[in-house]
Order: sequence, then C-alpha cells, then structure tokens
Amino acid sequence: MPIIRLTPEHAAAYRALILQAYALHPDAFTTSATERSGFPLSWWENRLAAGDDATEVLFGAWEQGALVGLAGLSFEPREKARHKATLFGMYVDAQHRSLGLGRQLVAAVLDYGRSRNGTLLVQLTVTEGNAAASGLYASFGFVPFGTEPLAVRVGSGYVSKVHMWCHLHAPHLA
Ligand SMILES: CC(C)(COP(=O)(O)OP(=O)(O)OC[C@H]1O[C@@H](n2cnc3c(N)ncnc32)[C@H](O)[C@@H]1OP(=O)(O)O)[C@@H](O)C(=O)NCCC(=O)NCCS
Repeated sequence: MPIIRLTPEHAAAYRALILQAYALHPDAFTTSATERSGFPLSWWENRLAAGDDATEVLFGAWEQGALVGLAGLSFEPREKARHKATLFGMYVDAQHRSLGLGRQLVAAVLDYGRSRNGTLLVQLTVTEGNAAASGLYASFGFVPFGTEPLAVRVGSGYVSKVHMWCHLHAPHLA
C-alpha cells in the first residue's frame, strides 16, 4: 500500500475522504464538514499544489486505487518561525485501521519534514482522550507540552487539545 504525496489531480478523492473524516470524527478535527463541503474543487486543488516550497503538503495512503488515509504537514511562512511545521489532517478510514497505515503516514510526514531545509521540529494537537492517535504520535517521539482547555466546541460541549512536539533531527532532545 504505497504512501504518496498528493497533487491537484487527487483533489476530488482528497475532498471526499477528509469530509468523511470531519463528519465521522467531529471530536478529532477542528474543521467541520459543513464549513468545507461547499468549497469548490479549485480550493482543494490549490491546497494540493505541487512545489518544493508549498506551505501545505498532503500525503495519502492508497488501497486498490482508493484513497484510504491522509496526513498533512504545514509550514510556517514567517521567517522567525520557519523552523516549525505542523502535522494536521491525520485520518485512516475505519476499514483500514490497525494495518500500520497511520504509522506509514506519520513516517512519510516526518521524512518529508526532515527534507525541508531549516525545519527543526513538528508540532500537532490531539484531542484529550484520543488514545489511538496519541499512542501513534508518542511512538514516534512526540511529547506533550501542554493541554488547551475548552479548545474546540463540539455540539453543545467542548474538548481539550493536547499539544505535542517532536524534534526532527535529535529525538533524544524531545
Ligand atoms: C489515529 C489513526 C489515524 C491511526 O491509524 P491506524 O492506521 O489505525 O494506525 P496504525 O495501524 O498505523 O497504528 C499505529 C500505532 O497507533 C497506535 N494505535 C492505533 N490504534 C490504537 C488504539 N485503538 N489504541 C491505542 N493505540 C492505537 C499504536 O501505537 C499503534 O502502534 P502498534 O501498531 O505498534 O500497536 C486512526 O485511528 C484514525 O483515523 N482515527 C480517527 C481520526 C483521528 O483520530 N485522527 C487523529 C487526529 S489528531
């Protein structure tokens, strides 16, 4: 099951899978399906723009021609924060979980982060209590550095977000 960087030609498949993720896991994602479902295909194509200096890079896991998993890495455009990147949009559809795809996607994101000049660390947020995602990140050396209370409103309640980070080049420092 190959992991590849997504390009604009994958926009329709990317849109379908991430909207499914937002709809099925409102606790896990800050973006909602309703706020993105009306965006035109061109918006999704732009998000997948190729180039070595793209501010967002998406990786996809494919199974028999279908996109079944996603993970993204965004880069800070501001000069003084360019050493930081953010892992976002991590999702494997329910039929393909516990097969190692999540692990392969995180590995692809971190490898890509290491390949971008000057990128020193990756940050992410994970909803407090999301054991599957937290366990996956921890196994790559991500460590928590704080919890944001009432971070995201989900329905009539709120969830907290745990902030984690991982040093890309010297994991023993994390
Ligand atoms: C989190 C998610 C991406 C993991 O994907 P996956 O393909 O099932 O993960 P993998 O099979 O590669 O598992 C890798 C590791 O994740 C952890 N993990 C996976 N499922 C787990 C579970 N149910 N409980 C605890 N840890 C789990 C383990 O550390 C596992 O390592 P192991 O294989 O050595 O046991 C998937 O569960 C998912 O899409 N969840 C819904 C969306 C979500 O929560 N996204 C994260 C937003 S921050």
